[in-house]
Amino acid sequence: MKILVLHGPNLNLLGARDPEVYGNLTLKEIDSRIRAHAKKRGAAVVIHQSNAEGGIIDAIHRAGRKGSAKTCDAIVINPGAYTHYSIAIRDAIQAVGLPTVEVHLSNIYAREDFRHRSVVAPVCRGQIVGLGHTGYLFAIDAAISLVKGE
Ligand code: DQA
Repeated sequence: MKILVLHGPNLNLLGARDPEVYGNLTLKEIDSRIRAHAKKRGAAVVIHQSNAEGGIIDAIHRAGRKGSAKTCDAIVINPGAYTHYSIAIRDAIQAVGLPTVEVHLSNIYAREDFRHRSVVAPVCRGQIVGLGHTGYLFAIDAAISLVKGE
């Protein structure tokens, strides 16, 4: 089983960016925890970060190629600020049809009003918010269960 983990804009700055909101770990440190966790659970991960909407969409398309060319079984995505307005990312998730879990490090519902709305949530199977980097590990577990049909 292979899971695509996608980090959106500004998440490359983790560690230095608003640590009181997003924690002290760098993206590299978070990624190595994700890899170790997935390995323990018997899943492989492909991890990608992009600051560009098109980069995120291309990665979703690559993951979801149909038939024998399909490269991933599920997606774990933190679309960053695109969460709140990218209909294009929402459409890409819907188009490929892979089970997708949305993750946010912070509790978007406890922050500014403009962060309360996720336009991708309706095409994701579930959402994990406010648990910091651990949320990615729960999302990996959720993605595995969804693929296995548990
Ligand atoms: C975020 C929440 C978004 O509102 C914000 O724009 C981010 C990070 C989170 O992980 O908490 O970039 O997705």
